[in-house]
Amino acid sequence: MQIIAHRGASGEYPENTMLSIEQAIAQGADAIELDVFAVQGELIVIHDHHLQRTTNGKGSIYQYSVEQLKQFDAGKGERIPALAQVLRRLQQAPQWLNIELKGSDTVTPLLRLLDKAEEEYNFDSKRLLISSFNHHLLAEIKQSMPKLKLGALTASMPVDYASFAQKLQAYSVNCDVSFINQAFVNDAKARGLRVYVYTVDHTDDIQRMQQYGVDGIFTNYPGASRQFLAAIK
Ligand code: G3P
Ligand code: MG
Repeated sequence: MQIIAHRGASGEYPENTMLSIEQAIAQGADAIELDVFAVQGELIVIHDHHLQRTTNGKGSIYQYSVEQLKQFDAGKGERIPALAQVLRRLQQAPQWLNIELKGSDTVTPLLRLLDKAEEEYNFDSKRLLISSFNHHLLAEIKQSMPKLKLGALTASMPVDYASFAQKLQAYSVNCDVSFINQAFVNDAKARGLRVYVYTVDHTDDIQRMQQYGVDGIFTNYPGASRQFLAAIK
């Protein structure tokens, strides 16, 4: 079962910052998940479109230029990273990356950025999983760049289980720990989908996910989760 650092090692470090990403790398996560919005066509790494919860800024991210947004403190003196910075960093690390699209205008900037990263330093987009709760964005990506792996997010338990993810030709279905059960996992696997579950921080949940046979968990504590997994082997 893979360990995916949720917003980086966000249980101990400010979420969605280079610091939490560095810590996730150091703690030996298999992958890193982060959230992105587009501001003026540039993808920035932040979970909310309002600044209050995670930075010392106020109001909506859309009120500011990218340069202004980079002045805010995102915790421990960290800045809101650009996705471009993260791709460059991960070029030197073994972890794969899950980019969760939050803003509805993120597809064009993403495809542009990936083209540029491939051209400039040979970034391999096979190391990416692009996910969203907005399934229209996933369908749009499937049309324009079919080789990108897609993660279909759900915060519910659909009547026909993982059928929606199969229709999207997704690589994985990414489910909420509060809804997941064995029947859903079996259904997704039978459809050829990977199953990743968020957010799994408690040891009883980690154990239950392993029993279900899920492929990976999103956790805010990648180091501790890995240690727990090793101990119960
Ligand atoms: O991608 C898994 C998880 O991050 C989805 O929910 O709100 O933490 O972005 P959220
Ligand atoms: Mg997320």
